[in-house]
Amino acid sequence: MPLQDAPSLLTLLWSPLTVVTAADGDRRGGQIAVGAFAASIVPAQPRLLVQIQKRNHTNELIEASGRFAVHVINREQWEWVRHWGFRSQTEVDKFEGVGWREGPEGLPILDGVVGWLACRVVNWMDGGDMAIWLADVFEAERCSGEQPIRWHEVQQVLPPVWAEEYGRKLGHDVPDSGRRMAELSEAPRWRVEG
Ligand SMILES: Cc1cc2nc3c(=O)[nH]c(=O)nc-3n(C[C@H](O)[C@H](O)[C@H](O)COP(=O)(O)O)c2cc1C
Repeated sequence: MPLQDAPSLLTLLWSPLTVVTAADGDRRGGQIAVGAFAASIVPAQPRLLVQIQKRNHTNELIEASGRFAVHVINREQWEWVRHWGFRSQTEVDKFEGVGWREGPEGLPILDGVVGWLACRVVNWMDGGDMAIWLADVFEAERCSGEQPIRWHEVQQVLPPVWAEEYGRKLGHDVPDSGRRMAELSEAPRWRVEG
């Protein structure tokens, strides 16, 4: 099978766990992402890119505001995979019970993380099911020297009922992505206003 080994190899490329937050006016949201990557070799002009599913509430906020924040989370925060990654802000207010504050340009900044980067979109690419956002980092803070955590480490401690819950979510999301992947728009390049 020519593709048999591809999924397991591709998971090796996933980033450490991040929570991507965004806001548009009074609306705010956030989600787990393992698709967050450094995208600049110029220290004075830091950039990154994130891959965000277009069906996600967080993506709607990024599209509306052109801003997002990426939080690198630590090993003690592994339970956040369920909190931020299994359900949508449209179903539950994920900010309730979590320490956070309004940060630069109104971005929600979470407490207790390894660090965060506030980002302004410069361009995007349509992946059909996902949007790939390229952004300038305009403010950042390294909050602690703690280590980030990766999905394979979380899987070792994930309660079976949580694994089943995530499996059910993937049972919906994977076929939906498969259908959407061919639906590429001829979207114009992102234009930053002001
Ligand atoms: C381990 C893990 C990694 C994930 N990585 C991504 C990712 O890189 N990009 C993405 O769009 N969704 C990713 N997700 C799924 C979103 O976090 C999830 O769909 C979330 O419920 C979306 O929330 P929202 O609708 O409030 O934005 C991941 C979920 C988990 C559990």
